[in-house]
Amino acid sequence: RAAREAAARHALAQTQARLVLAGRMASVGTLAAGVAHEINNPLAFVITNVDAAIRRIASLDRRSNASRSGPWGRAHGDGRAPSSELSEVLSLLEDAREGAERVRLIVRDLHTFSRAEDDRRGPVDVRRVLDSCVHMAMNEIRHRARVVRSFDEVPPVEANEPRLAQVFLNLIVNAAQAIPEGLAEQNEIELSTRCDAAGQVVVGVRDTGAGIAPEALGRIFDPFYTSKEEGEGLGLGLAICHSIVTALGGQIEVESRPGEGSTFRVVLPAARTGEARAPAAPGDGAPRWSREGGGLAATEQQAAPRQRILIIDDEPLLTRAIAGTLEPRHQTTATASARDALARIRAGERYDAILCDLMMPDMTGMDFYASLAELAPEQQRRVVFLTGGAFTERSKAFLQQVDARLLLKPFDAATLLSLVDEVVASR
Ligand SMILES: Nc1ncnc2c1ncn2[C@@H]1O[C@H](COP(=O)(O)OP(=O)(O)O)[C@@H](O)[C@H]1O
Ligand SMILES: [Mg+2]
Repeated sequence: RAAREAAARHALAQTQARLVLAGRMASVGTLAAGVAHEINNPLAFVITNVDAAIRRIASLDRRSNASRSGPWGRAHGDGRAPSSELSEVLSLLEDAREGAERVRLIVRDLHTFSRAEDDRRGPVDVRRVLDSCVHMAMNEIRHRARVVRSFDEVPPVEANEPRLAQVFLNLIVNAAQAIPEGLAEQNEIELSTRCDAAGQVVVGVRDTGAGIAPEALGRIFDPFYTSKEEGEGLGLGLAICHSIVTALGGQIEVESRPGEGSTFRVVLPAARTGEARAPAAPGDGAPRWSREGGGLAATEQQAAPRQRILIIDDEPLLTRAIAGTLEPRHQTTATASARDALARIRAGERYDAILCDLMMPDMTGMDFYASLAELAPEQQRRVVFLTGGAFTERSKAFLQQVDARLLLKPFDAATLLSLVDEVVASR
């Protein structure tokens, strides 16, 4: 009886530790979502402004090349041609744009790991999740191994994305930790995706590290089994992977040779619909997600007449950046309050497009949209919601219901301009 009691106590202690860890991960996820959201607003106006500056300088540069006698034709004290100076400024801005783009990708990765408390499943592209995980683990990997991707075309799997990311991240970090530091050129972590004969998706994480002794192979998925030093490993990583993967109806397998390396394979059923969350075609009723935009060329045309655009966002620097981008082509009105916007429309003002923040302190974009239904239904159809992405339950449900366009912050100038064009054209 004493032995049974000891075993029960041990099991209870393990469960408690797992719960504590799960709780901690959930709060880290919430924090990450909040941080990502806060960064998206300023990043949106950094990107929008830098894009606008790049376009203007590029056109100045073209003009100064065209006419040497114009205002830009004067020679400078240092004897450099003015156009070469403009080109330098341009390249500084392009570097800044590149930096902002990297921040945007980091924030996107953070997003993949947030929402840990949200259990909902949907079709997930495992390759995109693997890429995010590699970014997140790069500090662990860099000094130990090269990353090789062998991605076959695979259908999406039905999963909860943050949870799946947790699985892959655990496997990738374990792979890195099995490889000593310093010989990155000679070591490899290979990530692979393929389809098996049964149509399931197989994700492989292979390393050229220490490998696992045969007698340890049967225990590595046990909670608290670790071969790592005190403080370096809790021994929960693979146990968590195992429980997540089996909950998804999948399996996790391992193959290893001591001294040569290990391969972990996660087998997951493909999503039943076979449809990735591809951007919906215009007009099919689903919210349209725009982020990666069309090229600048189309947006440079000045031919179209100026349209009236209303911008509603409680972040004044963002409304200014948007107005700055649209102004040369369109006539913009900016306001920080949806209530004020509603008053303008009630007073009879009409707009060709309305860019509206989803979450605002006083009146939200959702309430604004609802009020428009009675006040001016034709204006309601011109609304594009702007959002930093950290959705509340209410906003998620709302976006699923309504047939409104959505622009994710941060967006670039080209995406903004082409979406405005699309709304203006949808008469
Ligand atoms: N890729 C790998 N190569 C060698 N050993 C591994 C690998 N992945 C896991 N292991 C072994 O499995 C054990 C348990 O892993 P895990 O559950 O992630 O816990 P932790 O990493 O905290 O030790 C590790 O301590 C290690 O001995
Ligand atoms: Mg681990």
